[in-house]
Amino acid sequence: MSIHIHHIAIVVDDLDEALAFYQQALGLTLAERRAVPEEEVEIAFLPAGEGEIELLRPLDDRSGVARFLAKRGEGVHHVCLRVDDVEAAMARLQAAGAHLLSETPQVNPHGVRYVFVHPKSAHGVLVELYEVKGDE
Ligand code: CO
Repeated sequence: MSIHIHHIAIVVDDLDEALAFYQQALGLTLAERRAVPEEEVEIAFLPAGEGEIELLRPLDDRSGVARFLAKRGEGVHHVCLRVDDVEAAMARLQAAGAHLLSETPQVNPHGVRYVFVHPKSAHGVLVELYEVKGDE
């Protein structure tokens, strides 16, 4: 089993403003920007070495991300770990008593299966698991 940091996600008030900072002041390059209507967020990915920075902003006032931003302000929203087998990881977490945010993996537009672990189970940080096979 190999496990790596896939991305660290930062919730922001204004995605254009945040992207300008991360690109111009920090020197990262934008790889992808898209809306995720089912999660009511817009996301942008900026590769940094083997991992990536994800910037996200809520698309409405009611989503979990919108409530997070209203309550805690801008900042780190989740840490995403890359795993070989998301179902094996979920089984291990459930055996350890962890609370997952969905019972089965979700699938993103790239076909990546993923799941979130509740921050109460992960010592205060929302943890996302991405299933990426092999050395991609
Ligand atoms: Co993420």
